[in-house]
Amino acid sequence: MKLLVIGSGGREHALVWKLAQSPHVTRMWCAPGNAGIAQELVGQASSLSDGSPADRQDACPTHLVECVNLAAEDLPNLLAFAREKQPDLTVVGPDNPLALGIVDLFQKHGLRIWGPNQKAAQFESSKVFSQRFMEKYGIPTAAAGIFDDVVAAKKFAASLGKCVVKADGLALGKGVLICGTQAEAEKAVDEIMVGKAFGAAGARVVIQEFLEGIEVSLHALCDGRTAKFFPTSQDHKRALDGDRGLNTGGMGTYSPTPFLSDAQLADAAQQILEPFMRGCQAEGIDYRGILYPGIMLTKDGPKVLEFNARFGDPETQVYLTRLENDLVELLEASVNGTLDRHELKWNPKASVCVVLASGGYPGSYPKGKVIAGLDAANALPGTKVFHAGTALKDGQVVTSGGRVLGVTALGKDLPSARTAAYAAVEKIHFEGAHFRRDIAAKALR
Ligand code: AMP
Ligand code: GLY
Repeated sequence: MKLLVIGSGGREHALVWKLAQSPHVTRMWCAPGNAGIAQELVGQASSLSDGSPADRQDACPTHLVECVNLAAEDLPNLLAFAREKQPDLTVVGPDNPLALGIVDLFQKHGLRIWGPNQKAAQFESSKVFSQRFMEKYGIPTAAAGIFDDVVAAKKFAASLGKCVVKADGLALGKGVLICGTQAEAEKAVDEIMVGKAFGAAGARVVIQEFLEGIEVSLHALCDGRTAKFFPTSQDHKRALDGDRGLNTGGMGTYSPTPFLSDAQLADAAQQILEPFMRGCQAEGIDYRGILYPGIMLTKDGPKVLEFNARFGDPETQVYLTRLENDLVELLEASVNGTLDRHELKWNPKASVCVVLASGGYPGSYPKGKVIAGLDAANALPGTKVFHAGTALKDGQVVTSGGRVLGVTALGKDLPSARTAAYAAVEKIHFEGAHFRRDIAAKALR
């Protein structure tokens, strides 16, 4: 099979790495990819679990994944590329192309593609859509109001006390403001609705009660009829240790988390996935892809904070290092509506991913810093360094983004995985690098 993967982050490196291990795959492109993706080999399985290298010597000759210099949002040129190369399946990583309707566009031209279509991607691209859907179908979520009027929005926020103001549309993960006081809520409403701090996304807002609890990430693979939960994982969104500092795209993850037992996860499936699938059927939404609910474990049970319509980043890095199934077969089943014939199999080991970021991230940061020690880190048993913001320059790997690397390691339990991930982090150096030293620490307390 020929595969095209869309995106350039750590999530996409993990997807490419896992897909490239499938014996079904003969050729792979990634648009636009990164320096790590460009070094992945098609036709060579690597087994992280015991640190041993290739276990598929009989496979087709290995060759590199080809990175194509096309942005993930450049739908016309991605379509032209796919029409020329005719991949058997295109796999979409990020939310933007999904919200822009890449799935509908490719399907219209007879190209097979994995991910939710534009209507289904609204669960992530519109907070208003999601909130209404959750209320209509009884999915547990925060008490909330939806407003296109500034005065009414402020009045409702005042009635809640501590609250969360969310711009309606995609705002690159930044359109959510947590407000401790009435003054902060009024400022947030003004910024979003009047100042249009997040552009057109601010025409409407969702204002939610602030939920106290432990936040975890859930992922379910869906095929339009069946939805299957992954194990739990937890992200660390703040830039600094102890959940201080600014919000980021995610500074590290681990899986599984101790905060939700298997029985509680099964309960959550009943409370969230069942009404979700029922609602999709009633509304004519054909949801094929990953559904990623961000949930808060409150004293009244799990509540959905938001839905994402794609794999999390860096959740993907810990999930795919634990997944034992052939990912190509699972994504095919998700497209074909045959997921009920598959059982997801997970390595019982724990996985921890520590993100190395550029100095200054999530604010402004320099680029082009040479990265040393990647080979030494990757040589450690059970360890994989996924690239995010990296590029090749004069034969060297250099930084080119805010989140630079996702150093990921498996271990027999969380403490060992954590020790292994940080041992690998110690091998890697670039000027200004910063990372959190407390990834998975909460789980060990
Ligand atoms: P969202 O993009 O809607 O998930 O919001 C981004 C982050 O804001 C989440 O990951 C939570 O940490 C936080 N958040 C969102 N909604 C709430 C809420 N109702 N209560 C507490 N925290 C929230
Ligand atoms: N890990 C956060 C996200 O992917 O949205």
